[in-house]
Order: sequence, then structure tokens, then C-alpha cells
Amino acid sequence: MKKLIIEGNHPLSGSIKISGAKNSAVALIPAALLSSGEVKIDNIPNISDIDALNEILLYLGAKVSRNNEMITIDSSKIENKAIPKEICSKLRASYYFMSALLGKYKKVEMWFPGGCSIGARPIDQTIKAFRALGAKVIEEDSKFIITADKLVGTEVYLDMPSVGATVNTILASVLAEGVTTVANAAKEPEIVNVATFLNNMGAKIKGAGTSTIKITGVEKLNGCFHEVIPDRIEAGTYVLAGALIGKNLKIEGIIPEHIESLTTKLKEMGSNIKIYDDYIEISESDLKPAKIKTLGYPGFPTDLQQPLTTLLTQCEGKSIVEETIYENRFQNVKYLCDMGAKINIIHNQKIEVEGKTDLKGCTVKATDLRAGACMVLAALKAEGKTTIEDVEHVLRGYENIVFKLKNVGAKIELIDE
Ligand code: EPU
Repeated sequence: MKKLIIEGNHPLSGSIKISGAKNSAVALIPAALLSSGEVKIDNIPNISDIDALNEILLYLGAKVSRNNEMITIDSSKIENKAIPKEICSKLRASYYFMSALLGKYKKVEMWFPGGCSIGARPIDQTIKAFRALGAKVIEEDSKFIITADKLVGTEVYLDMPSVGATVNTILASVLAEGVTTVANAAKEPEIVNVATFLNNMGAKIKGAGTSTIKITGVEKLNGCFHEVIPDRIEAGTYVLAGALIGKNLKIEGIIPEHIESLTTKLKEMGSNIKIYDDYIEISESDLKPAKIKTLGYPGFPTDLQQPLTTLLTQCEGKSIVEETIYENRFQNVKYLCDMGAKINIIHNQKIEVEGKTDLKGCTVKATDLRAGACMVLAALKAEGKTTIEDVEHVLRGYENIVFKLKNVGAKIELIDE
């Protein structure tokens, strides 16, 4: 079991360089399977979710090499075999292999994907899209057997703008016959990154980043070079660290527009934040309370809701957080309260944070990836020592978190017992 031990209340100053986006990279790697040539993707973050996808690529027989942040994938000779349940359940993104293999071979056998336990997270919209494209889907327990004589472009309306279902529909339809239209598509920057990658390979995708995406099927995709965009959630997490305990903390290598919903909110709260072309500088200051409601992009991201809650404990007055994406994303609240926060759960998707409260170090848990980030931020601010258990969740999504924080003055150690 891995733990983080953090001695709090040491100001953070200096610079943190942001890595490639987890939620983009985890879609680009399965998407690479659609190519008949060699694909090179740069700025891949070194996190355990990428290791899990690598394991799937190797299991299928792809030739893979990793050199620092670059991954080279040649999947011209892979074998389309069922990916074992224990690998699929390691992460959510394993189901991008479902759509990539279906798109390429018109047949796939896979298990229900894993991922953080933050809600039910059904995959009905992806299955609906596969069926609309002409596939037959058999579901036995949590195993899916999906086959198609051919996939034919059609109109797919998503009942909610799901990131996963949008990417899966694109991956399943790039090699289909005719035109597929995804209506009510998710607009996240990671989707634009995936569509650009596929277009570089020869796909014909228009409208990524808007709510209507049009995919005109092509016969073959070639090799290409591509770069992962900076991780907006990692960037947002460190911006929040700066708002909590920063002294001219610089967050660099970012696309500030991707976290505008956060930076605008911070300005509204009175934050001392300066935004430049590709970096942000931020220092701790007295902040007003806020009302936050999570929404799909460009709304306030659910993935920053838990880290932001730590900051709200330090604002004088009552803040409200409404989570509209997941049903179970307040597991961090108990541990924040153990550290001294005053938070009322109004119902399972709404909380009230009463600030400002001093935080004191104690033993807490990272129940999921972003709950873990919330605890790291609380520990950096708290008086005394905090032990965060189950930090495997955090290491799934934050590259070199210990190194990056130490480098700006945090007292943080990773213990592996
Ligand atoms: N939903 C359905 N049916 C579906 C698909 C989604 O009901 O078929 C619901 C989900 O249960 C959820 C909502 O729609 O309530 C949104 O889900 P979405 O499909 O958009 O999320 P995802 O693709 O499973 C990705 C990220 C998440 C991030 C969300 C929202 C990856 C691998 N994961 O998940 O990232 O929270 O989009 O932005 O890209 C994280 O990084 O910590 C994380 C959880």
C-alpha cells in the first residue's frame, strides 16, 4: 500500500511544469490501433493508467516502445483477442479498445471497464451507438460480445454529452461506410485532441469541440506523429494549490483557455491570479466564498470539484458545491471534516462548506483520484503532518507529483509498504 506523508504549511514557490493530459492520452493510445502504420505520440504522461494501456497493447501483440514522453505504436500485426477481465477493470479507458477493435475488425469481446468508484458510470450510450452503426451486442454478466457484418454511418443522439460515448462513437465510425453524425456530443478539449490525431492519420472528422460531430468513413488510416495536449485537470489542481498556499507559484506549459471556468471563478473570489499565454502565476490571498456547479466543458469540470472544495474551506463564509455529473463524488468530505473542515452534505449531489476553518494534519484516505488530489491540497495547507492512504489512485493521474511538489517547497514523501 502506498502512502503520502505531507508536512503542511510550507509556502509553495517556483515553477510546476504540467504533463500531457491523462484523459487525452488514454484515448489516443487505443485510437492508435486503428492505424495500419506506425504512430508516434509525444507528451505521454508517465502515470499508471498509461502502463495499464501499454499492457493491453502488448497483450494484443502490438509493437510498442516508450522513450521518455514519446510512445511509438505499430499495431499492424495485432491479434484481435478478448482482453482479460482483470486488465479491463484496471481503468475506465480500457473501453476505448472496445470501439477501436470493433471499428477495425468488426468484432470485439471485452469486459465492463473499471475506473474510479464515483457513481454508476453505465456505458449504455456507447452500446447504443454501436447498435446504431449496425453492430450486434450481446451482454453476458459484465462481458460484451460485439459483432458486425459491416458498420454503416448513421445519426447517433447521445442522451447526455458523455466524453466516453463521444470518443467511442468516433473510434467505431472512422472506418465505417458513409457519414456518422454525433448529436449532443461532449465538447471537452480531449475530444478535439483525439479527432485531430485521427485526422492526422487520414480520418475525416469535422466539428469536434462542438455539440455536433460529423465523421465521414475512410478505408484506411496511416501512421502519423501527434502530441498530447497539456493536462487541464493537473494544471487546475496546482493552480488551486497556489491559491491555497502559493507565493508566486508558476504553473507552466498549459493552455489557459482550457481552465477558464476555474480561473474566472478564482478571479470572482478575489484571487491573486495572473494569466499569461501559456502559464499562470498565483499566490495565496483572502478569498470570498463561491457557488460552484459542475458541468460538461466549457462548464466547471467535475474533476476539479473535489480539489476546489479544499480551497473553499479557507474562504470566509458559506460556499455551495453542486455536483451534477456523478452521484458519488463527495467521498472526500468525511476526510476534510476529519482535518477540521465544516461541511454539510445537503444531499448526495450538493454540499455546503462553512469557512474559514483551520486544517490539522491526520490520517486520511484517497478514495478516488480527485478525492486524493483534494486531500493532497488539504495536507499542504494543514498544520502538522498528514498521512494519505491508498494513494495508488493519485498516482494513476498525476505524473511525478512528489517531485513536482518537492521542487516548489512542499515537504512530501511517498512511502511504499
Ligand atoms: N453516462 C451514462 N451513460 C453512458 C455514459 C455516461 O449514463 O453511456 C453518465 C455517467 O454515468 C456520468 C456522465 O454521464 O454520470 C458523464 O460521463 P462521461 O461518459 O462523460 O465520463 P467518462 O467518459 O466516463 C471522462 C473522464 C472522467 C471525467 C468525465 C467527465 C476519462 C478516462 N475519464 O469519464 O475523468 O470525470 O469524462 O469529464 O476520460 C478523472 O480523470 O478523474 C475522471 C473521472
